[in-house]
Amino acid sequence: MLKDRSLRDIEPQHFISQDGLLEVDLIAVPSVYPIGRHQAQLLTYNGQAPGPILEARAGDTMRVHFTNQLTQSTNLHFHGLHIPPTGTGDNVFLEVPPGETWTYEFALPRNHPAGLAWYHPHYHGLVAEQVYSGLAGPILIRGDLDEVPEVKAADETLIVLKDFGLTRSGQVATPNALFKRWGREGDLLTVNGQLRPSYGLTAGQLKRLRILNAATSKIFRLALDDHALQIIATDGGALQKPIKVDELVLAPGERVDVLVQANQKPGTYPLLSLPYDRGIAKMMDKPLETSVLADFTYDGAAEAEPMPLPEILIPVAPLSAPSTIRELVLDHGIAPGSGAPFLINGKAFDHGRIDTQVKLGTVEDWVLVNKASMDHPFHLHTNAFQVIERNGEPVVDLVWKDTVNLEAYETVKIRVKFSDYAGKTVYHCHILDHEDQGMMGIIEMRA
Ligand code: C2O
Ligand code: CU
Ligand code: CU
Repeated sequence: MLKDRSLRDIEPQHFISQDGLLEVDLIAVPSVYPIGRHQAQLLTYNGQAPGPILEARAGDTMRVHFTNQLTQSTNLHFHGLHIPPTGTGDNVFLEVPPGETWTYEFALPRNHPAGLAWYHPHYHGLVAEQVYSGLAGPILIRGDLDEVPEVKAADETLIVLKDFGLTRSGQVATPNALFKRWGREGDLLTVNGQLRPSYGLTAGQLKRLRILNAATSKIFRLALDDHALQIIATDGGALQKPIKVDELVLAPGERVDVLVQANQKPGTYPLLSLPYDRGIAKMMDKPLETSVLADFTYDGAAEAEPMPLPEILIPVAPLSAPSTIRELVLDHGIAPGSGAPFLINGKAFDHGRIDTQVKLGTVEDWVLVNKASMDHPFHLHTNAFQVIERNGEPVVDLVWKDTVNLEAYETVKIRVKFSDYAGKTVYHCHILDHEDQGMMGIIEMRA
């Protein structure tokens, strides 16, 4: 059943916790949603794509009454939240069949880092299709980073990036066999569900851009014309101090929080999607292009004394030395018995098999080896990690991540502490077609 939406003026729903509780109804439902001149027939949360913004603080309880009005099974994953992976928590093994309701309820720990997380379906085998059809929404956790005076003074804009491929009548186009295998991508690049929206920049002020790559497979390489980007947070929370870059690469699942000084001449500056080859460009025979994602326009002339950047943010404590070191090899091939082409340590995902057992409270180093000629963004649920080495070189600036992109043939070493929650969850490639085709493993955290 398709619900009609009037063109444009779809105000994104934004739910904020009250007195320590965020209680929301979330309905996964097919809906007609306008993208440019298309009346897109998407899968949405509450009729919106991206779904409603959920906002809470560390220590709050979240209660999400989730109803599945799709014609296939689905569920929810709370990507980036440090919460129990079991029961009514971030339980990705759960199936919510069509017509059913499930209430997710969990408390965010009091020391939960502030940052940008998100929710999306995680029902194995249908994840790529459902996310590509529109299902994904942002979660803002407020806390210490938001209280840093310069960050607090900045004007905040959320940027949810998502690509769509539509037929002329507005249906989500079925990807061809090559895209289905290597990761589907669409030509319509949207920001907050819109084609090339405009945002304001107040001259002399700081703009805080909170960017989520909610695409199924597309890796974005981003730049804001003539403006430096000061990274203040990554997937797992704040940095120790800002890191200045001119462009950044964001793989599916990754988030970044940047400050921009509006210190240029008045005018309009595009947010650009720059060419990026994740290793499949030759096969796809599709030119790599630069396109404009959004426009940022100054209101007024820059003042002589622009607002300062923060010098110091939130400490990032190094984790202690690991008690175990493991290797995870990412590659594609044919797994004996299953035929699935995307593998971790030679095996395709099996929901009945535990691949990795760890002890709660311990620190481990994982050496992630990409033996493939294409990128694989590696994601671990429940606990954020620190990237400590890339291709044998130590990483100096420690940051918190839950998804790290491995370019073709790269080796990355991550360090992770398994804290607070026992139970089973998963790690996987966040190119969701790869995940659906087997590039996922089960980890059990034992008390
Ligand atoms: Cu955003 Cu298991 O994923
Ligand atoms: Cu996740
Ligand atoms: Cu992959």
